[in-house]
Amino acid sequence: MKILVLNGPNLNMLGIREPDHYGKETYSDLVKKIQNHCESKGIEVEVFQSNHEGALVDEIQNAYGKIDGIVINPGAYTHTSIAILDAVKSVNIPTVEVHISKVEEREEFRQISYVRLACVKTITGHGTDGYLEAIDYLVEEN
Ligand code: DQA
Repeated sequence: MKILVLNGPNLNMLGIREPDHYGKETYSDLVKKIQNHCESKGIEVEVFQSNHEGALVDEIQNAYGKIDGIVINPGAYTHTSIAILDAVKSVNIPTVEVHISKVEEREEFRQISYVRLACVKTITGHGTDGYLEAIDYLVEEN
C-alpha cells in the first residue's frame, strides 16, 4: 500500500507558527513521525508540502494510478480551494482531511471546508497524531 501525505501553505512553519494552535513540533519532526509510523506498518509513504495551490493540485493529479490513499491538510486552502476539491474528486483516491487544530472551535471563516466534500473522513484537533490516525484509517479501509 502506498500513501501520499500532503500539506498546504504555512505547514512548513510548524514549530514556529502559532504554537498555541499548532504545537511545538517542527515540520521535519512531523515528516519523521509519519515516516517512522509507516515504516513500522510496512506502508510506503510520500510526504509533500507546498505553499502553492497549483503545486498541490499537480501532486494530487500525479497520484492517479500510483497511490492508494491520500492524507491532506490543505492549510488555509481548505477554506477557499475548489481546485483542490476538484483534484481530489478527479483522482477518486480515498482521502482523509486532517487539521492539527480544532478548526470547528475557531473563526467563522474556518468553518467551511471545500475539500471535505471529497473526503472519506475528517480528523481535527488531535495535533500531529491526526496524520497517523488518518493513515491507520486508510490502511484499515483498504
Ligand atoms: C489548519 C487549520 C487552517 O484553518 C489553517 O489555515 C492552517 C492549519 C490546521 O492544521 O489546523 O494552516 O489546517
